[in-house]
Amino acid sequence: MNLNILVLPGDGIGTEVTREAVRVLRRVAEKYSHTLHLTEGLLGGIAIHKTGSPFPDETARLAADADATLLGAVGLPEFDNAPPAQRPERGLLGIRKVLGVYANLRPVRTYEALIDSSPLKNERIRGTDMIIVRELTGGIYYGTPRGIQGEGDEERACNTMTYNRAEIARIARMAFHLARQRRRKLASVDKSNVLETSQLWRKVVVEVAAEFPDVELEHVLVDNCAMQLVLNPTRFDVVVTENMFGDILSDEGAVLAGSIGMLPSASIGEKKPSGAWVGLYEPVHGSAPDIAGQNKANPLGAIGSVAAMLEYSFGLMEEAKAVNNAIESVLNAGKVTADLKPKTAPLTTEQVGAAVCEAI
Ligand code: IPM
Ligand code: MG
Repeated sequence: MNLNILVLPGDGIGTEVTREAVRVLRRVAEKYSHTLHLTEGLLGGIAIHKTGSPFPDETARLAADADATLLGAVGLPEFDNAPPAQRPERGLLGIRKVLGVYANLRPVRTYEALIDSSPLKNERIRGTDMIIVRELTGGIYYGTPRGIQGEGDEERACNTMTYNRAEIARIARMAFHLARQRRRKLASVDKSNVLETSQLWRKVVVEVAAEFPDVELEHVLVDNCAMQLVLNPTRFDVVVTENMFGDILSDEGAVLAGSIGMLPSASIGEKKPSGAWVGLYEPVHGSAPDIAGQNKANPLGAIGSVAAMLEYSFGLMEEAKAVNNAIESVLNAGKVTADLKPKTAPLTTEQVGAAVCEAI
């Protein structure tokens, strides 16, 4: 198979973990006789430096031409005080929107080998296995009006959280389908005791549920969900929620996995005529400027995102499984980076990437 992939390493540790993810892709292509066509593009802070824009038109063109996009992370501290429209993060929001990848799947698992890496008690987190399905192209991240106006005591900032029926129905449907392939339980997370957007969310989710009588649906308020995630995480199978709630809850979920460096993600949109999903694949973590350039970032979230790409955008289930099994065997062998608090000397980013390739 021809695999046309756009690689956007981005900023900070994004470049380091993406290098290892690409190394794993090459290994898979070699072992299973696929032809890789890799193109590299600019996104985020590096794109601002080189072109003046966090999401250059050229990157949009390359993404439209590729079968799938692999992304590292964006964000540089030098832009911390820049207005949102001129920040690296705007590039990420731009590419998500242009590709129309409205469903962000963030699997959260507690691996037995990493159970001591989490600060939570073993018996609480053992067996955790859920997918957070985050709506990715709507809500307060994109709503208008937005902005800052006025001066002095009158200076005022505004953002808008907005959803329409179609946006809610399609993400709900995606989540129900996923639940059907798993333990058939869906938790829809909202704040319907306060927000109108959440009231519509709940109403539409209930309507869509009628198409999936075999899936058990529960509604959980977002504040309670934040608590349940650490009190009783094994009760969750698929969790579906709006953009900002999903952003926040998935970082909390990282504590269940031992480190945010472990979490992969797949952002998918419409199916193409070929049956493959349009997809953007990125680890959940950010650019971590504090450890950038030190060859110590955990590449497993990025490598797990490669597995997700093989599965969703190319339908290569066996290859995806080979990558996930290799991740698991590397964990079992204790060959991990410092964030996972290994008992022996931590490995470098590069060494973990090489260990995964060897295990494939
Ligand atoms: C994530 C990140 C991004 C988001 C940032 C970098 C814009 O936190 O993917 O979770 O908020 O979506
Ligand atoms: Mg986030």
